[in-house]
Amino acid sequence: MKIRQSCNHEIVTRARRGQAAASTESGPGRLKAARLGTQKPVPISHVCLCAKFPVFFVYPPSKIEGTVQSIQEQIILETNLPGVERFSQGKVRDVYRLGDRLLIVATDRISAFDFILPTGIPDKGRVLTQMSVFWFDLLRDVTATHYISADVDAYPPELRPFRSQLEGRSMLVKLADMAPIECVARGYLAGSGWKEYRASGTVCGIPLPKGLQESSRLPEPIFTPATKAQTGHDENISFDRMASIVGTDVARQLRDLTLAIYTRAAAYAESRGIIIADTKFEFGFIDGKLVLGDEVLTPDSSRFWPRDTYEPGKPQNSYDKQYVRDYLEGIRWNKQPPAPALPPEVAQRTSEKYREAYRLLTGKEL
Ligand SMILES: Nc1ncnc2c1ncn2[C@@H]1O[C@H](COP(=O)(O)OP(=O)(O)OP(=O)(O)O)[C@@H](O)[C@H]1O
Ligand SMILES: [Mg+2]
Repeated sequence: MKIRQSCNHEIVTRARRGQAAASTESGPGRLKAARLGTQKPVPISHVCLCAKFPVFFVYPPSKIEGTVQSIQEQIILETNLPGVERFSQGKVRDVYRLGDRLLIVATDRISAFDFILPTGIPDKGRVLTQMSVFWFDLLRDVTATHYISADVDAYPPELRPFRSQLEGRSMLVKLADMAPIECVARGYLAGSGWKEYRASGTVCGIPLPKGLQESSRLPEPIFTPATKAQTGHDENISFDRMASIVGTDVARQLRDLTLAIYTRAAAYAESRGIIIADTKFEFGFIDGKLVLGDEVLTPDSSRFWPRDTYEPGKPQNSYDKQYVRDYLEGIRWNKQPPAPALPPEVAQRTSEKYREAYRLLTGKEL
């Protein structure tokens, strides 16, 4: 079958399950060149590379069967909602403000080694949003949340024209006064936690038993807060330092809630074949009440490991980004800008991993 390269560097339409795709979008959903403004200086500029290296391949619409055409969808690297106030832009999410509510839109951007790649991952934004929505519902009896709706029909009318950019990948939430703390729960030894343990027998200053290995399960989950850095990496802080920032009462509430949510979610996920090695939550206050905000328990905010292949004593395959990291290591990218584009098969396999995580956790196809 003839393959045509898409020259539209910001948004392409495609068919699901890698079967086929159609022309690029030209309506309201068509995006301008990537905006570089971000709340913190992440290297989003590399999205612009798409102009030089169009990354998606599409089949001519004439070759597509009707049924396949009807399930086309878009890959969106950046949203563009003229007239709606932009609140922030992270590595993956575009956030808009509507009075006392926020619209959080998960794009298909992917980052690796702290760089945003120029290639979008099919379905990634939808997986992130639908997974958060799933958890908000499952955790209803553990915590209040900021979640309002993910149904575009229930959104304020001024958002309706942007349905094609929002459907499935966005959620409306209540604006909260966010605590300036990243609330991290760790159930396993990985990443920076493992490095610290090897050096000092502690993780974020918390002493742990001797003899643990890389990826070992901890005797019980631990709470390791970090400050939300405006630039660069978040900084781990002690519980006392956190208490000096938010007050002792709030610090205790954040710790207890973080561990309660993690414990519930990790037990559920494990029963579905996924180990949540660690995760990060953000909380805020609405009318003086503490609520769980941001995205929750997604592969972007957590380490997900497949339970079947889990084996302590070595690093575990990350559920989602393994193909991406392997590819980038394989081409010996020096991890300096510009970040390289991914070949279509790497993007596709990564997409499948995201969908598989969603399927395993929820028992539903995306
Ligand atoms: N209900 C809410 N009310 C107010 N702010 C919120 C709410 N939920 C999430 N936020 C904030 O919205 C922002 C979302 O930004 P996002 O996570 O996309 O980017 P980032 O944190 O700047 O960078 P990164 O991509 O590394 O996560 C965060 O600052 C988060 O604290
Ligand atoms: Mg964030």
